[in-house]
Amino acid sequence: MCVLVLGGTGSIGSIVVRELIGCGHDVCGLARSDAAAAKLAEFGATPVAGDIASPERWAGRLPLVDAVIHAACDFNSDMGAVDRRLLDVLLPSLAAQPKTPRFIYTGGCWLFGATGEDVATEETPLRPLPAFAWMVPHLRRILAAPDIDGIVIHPAMVYEPDGGVFLRFARDAVERDAIRVVESGQVRWPLVHSEDLATLYALALRDAPPGSSYIGAAIEGLAVGRIAGAFARRFGTRRQMPDIISAEALAAEFGAWARGYALDQRLSGAKARRDLGWRPKHLDPEGEIAQLP
Ligand SMILES: NC(=O)c1ccc[n+]([C@@H]2O[C@H](COP(=O)([O-])OP(=O)(O)OC[C@H]3O[C@@H](n4cnc5c(N)ncnc54)[C@H](OP(=O)(O)O)[C@@H]3O)[C@@H](O)[C@H]2O)c1
Repeated sequence: MCVLVLGGTGSIGSIVVRELIGCGHDVCGLARSDAAAAKLAEFGATPVAGDIASPERWAGRLPLVDAVIHAACDFNSDMGAVDRRLLDVLLPSLAAQPKTPRFIYTGGCWLFGATGEDVATEETPLRPLPAFAWMVPHLRRILAAPDIDGIVIHPAMVYEPDGGVFLRFARDAVERDAIRVVESGQVRWPLVHSEDLATLYALALRDAPPGSSYIGAAIEGLAVGRIAGAFARRFGTRRQMPDIISAEALAAEFGAWARGYALDQRLSGAKARRDLGWRPKHLDPEGEIAQLP
């Protein structure tokens, strides 16, 4: 397949690009800078110059594509307006392509709100973090759009043993007296290793029926205190108990979206396992942290 990836240099997009190339797909990636173009070329993808904030400059000049994967986001306060305009321009230009393209839209675990002891599934009504509420009409639009075959993937918190959502823990473990966690060590995060998530995108690209959504959670929910504890043990951090920082302080530093780190969530990836044959391989993040060099 010929696949256009938006956000192909990001945490999610970069591993998806490499997975798709590994599967033999022909991948092009939107690049808003020379650095992004160079990174995509290094992965083996063809860069297409463009910015999601100005889609009219590139959306009409796209190569013929079989599919688009959208994993671009700049996390600014106008991210909802930027995404809406992107869809306003991109969807009609995809409709003009000779073959109906598949379109995978990236949602996220934070659209499910705090679940407490419940385990959210694709059937659970969305209760988005306010900063991401704009995403809900956008993903509904993708699922219902007549001229594309729309699919939504809701990634859990994406980690690598010393990267992704674990990067901050890894840095604190060596740079500070204690690792910082948001609000409480009891807060649970649904998790997925980036490689497992990339496999899910590849499976969905091939097999997901149009109009379907999948939660990409390999681990339903792991307490952040346990993640912090694993890093503190591995790196001999002076104080093994985490420091608590408030969601307010984090939001003041990074923006309202960062309140998502305080959501206590449990999410199920059972539908992707059952319907797409997804078999995540990374199920023991604490064990992987213990093995870090
Ligand atoms: N990471 C997670 O744990 C996670 C979990 C669930 C859902 N999500 C969702 O997944 C999406 C992607 O997240 P991420 O963590 O992969 O983000 P990320 O690492 O910050 O990557 C964002 C990507 O978007 C691109 N981008 C940003 N602004 C752009 C613009 N104006 N024009 C063109 N490209 C632009 C970036 O390109 P540059 O290289 O040029 O900056 C980068 O490739 C977001 O919607 C996020 O909410 C993420």
